[in-house]
Amino acid sequence: MEIFKNEIKHWFKSDEQFNQLYPIDIQLLASWHWTPLHVARKVAQFLAAEKNASILDIGSGVGKFCLIAAHYEPNVHFYGVEQRQHLIDYAEKANETLQLNNVTFLCKNFKDIDFKNFDHFYYFNSFYENLEGTSKIDDSIDYSTALFHSYSLYLMRQLALKPAGTRLATYHSSESEIPLGFHLVKADLDEQLKFWVKI
Ligand SMILES: C[S@@+](CC[C@H](N)C(=O)[O-])C[C@H]1O[C@@H](n2cnc3c(N)ncnc32)[C@H](O)[C@@H]1O
Repeated sequence: MEIFKNEIKHWFKSDEQFNQLYPIDIQLLASWHWTPLHVARKVAQFLAAEKNASILDIGSGVGKFCLIAAHYEPNVHFYGVEQRQHLIDYAEKANETLQLNNVTFLCKNFKDIDFKNFDHFYYFNSFYENLEGTSKIDDSIDYSTALFHSYSLYLMRQLALKPAGTRLATYHSSESEIPLGFHLVKADLDEQLKFWVKI
């Protein structure tokens, strides 16, 4: 058991180490598209506000945020919703190594998720690749500026319906998806990482 725990810990020593849970083409996307380890730890700590909370990563990619967060905050459950099935497959494959039981990946468009089922949220600028001239993950989906705006508006409306006390962490967000009522409680990393609480 102790040997297994140490083997697991070694994946969380650095981004380089963690990214090796994925194939090389996925590793090459990390600096643009997957949350760095130190950011994931800060976000996880903020969102794990109460025991048994359900936390949703909106656009979970290959699961890097959810897996790191689940490792460091075992008393809450992390859910990742992701529209690309092959990225969910990489997330689940990585978790075959990590064996975390407080993380679940859902292959859906986030618009098909019931926000009532979640207490707190993480958003790493997931709709950004819809904008022209931005770095794309692949060419498996259609991109458009209209989608960026409609997703941002939909997210804003869902967050607006959440009760007081709901926590939200945003990383590299344009803030167009943050409704009135969410109060900025802390900013970090040159204001790229922001922590919000609904009042
Ligand atoms: C910047 S990546 C972030 C990945 C992950 N949150 C992390 O931090 O490691 C954004 C992800 O959001 C996904 N995404 C974008 N729009 C989505 C939508 N409408 N529904 C579900 N997933 C979406 C993309 O496919 C991409 O994998």
